[in-house]
Amino acid sequence: MTKKHTAFSGIQPSGTLHIGNYLGAIKQWLPLQNDHDCIFAVVDYHAITVPYQPIDMRGRILDAALDYLAAGLDPKKVTLFVQSRVPEHTELAWLLSTVTPLSELHRMTQYKEKAAQYSAAINTGLITYPILMAADILLYNTHVVPVGEDQEQHVELTRTIARKFNKRFGETFTVPKVQLTEAKRVMSLADPTRKMSKSLGPKHYVALTDDEKTIRAKVAKAVTDIGGTPQGELSPGVRNLFMLLKEFGQTADYLRFENAHAGGTIKYSELKAAVADGIVKHLTPFQERRSALAREPKKIWAILEHGAERARPIAQKTMARVKQAMGLI
Ligand code: AMP
Ligand code: TRP
Repeated sequence: MTKKHTAFSGIQPSGTLHIGNYLGAIKQWLPLQNDHDCIFAVVDYHAITVPYQPIDMRGRILDAALDYLAAGLDPKKVTLFVQSRVPEHTELAWLLSTVTPLSELHRMTQYKEKAAQYSAAINTGLITYPILMAADILLYNTHVVPVGEDQEQHVELTRTIARKFNKRFGETFTVPKVQLTEAKRVMSLADPTRKMSKSLGPKHYVALTDDEKTIRAKVAKAVTDIGGTPQGELSPGVRNLFMLLKEFGQTADYLRFENAHAGGTIKYSELKAAVADGIVKHLTPFQERRSALAREPKKIWAILEHGAERARPIAQKTMARVKQAMGLI
């Protein structure tokens, strides 16, 4: 029997997830769980690099786990755990920092954006963040990293770090590959020139837990034509709505609106109604599963603890190999 390849990904516990996280990341995890060894982490150590309230953190971790499970991850098939429960992540990050060029860290788009956003208090964790992410990935001999496009640069740096380490200390790490979906970059509804993101504010995203009324209101207000789009091209907002219709709606509807657009007869209010219908239809069963799971938080914490117990021995084995290669043991 051939050995299964390993897939690893992480999501920050930043409250409830949005449809960008779902389409860009979680959706591609579902088929992977059938033919890969899947390891998914709620990355709490990454989340504390920006201001937060300690009292909220446990609830945010639980929310992220509920989202994963309600979306269809099967804890019998995948290893699901909280990053801080496996101390090898930070231990490996230190060792990797000694082969990571500082100049590479300064080039990272996410760092530049966050440094601008939190310019009054840029902490060191914000810049070393990608090294911790590389440690997450490399600890588990990962082959594929299914993420949204915004994380591609971090995975590329992980590959650089792995290669540099292997060259300096001998073949130790598997060099992982990124895996993207078709909807690798979902744009904001209120400002479709920017990536859909929680930090922009509620009108910019549809949360997986938004109720029907909220979803319809947010999609109805989505920005469509803003002017300045070259003839024959879709404006960013309309392109985003078409993409959402393709993902959440019916193929027949998609084709009908495509024809209407080509013929110049499209009514954006109708396009938006079809998009909202599709999202509501998709999220209703998800939300039902989520509320059922939320009634038993102890069970969810037990799943996460069990996941950490499965992850730890793999991480420990890698650490032993790494320390040996580096001449530390
Ligand atoms: P984060 O919430 O930043 O931890 O992101 C979790 C996952 O969702 C990562 O794989 C991101 O690349 C992905 N993601 C976040 N925002 C978007 C978006 N707007 N479109 C597609 N994927 C996204
Ligand atoms: N940095 C990722 C994000 O913001 C989250 C993350 C942390 C991650 N560690 C990872 C993703 C390892 C993939 C693999 O979305």
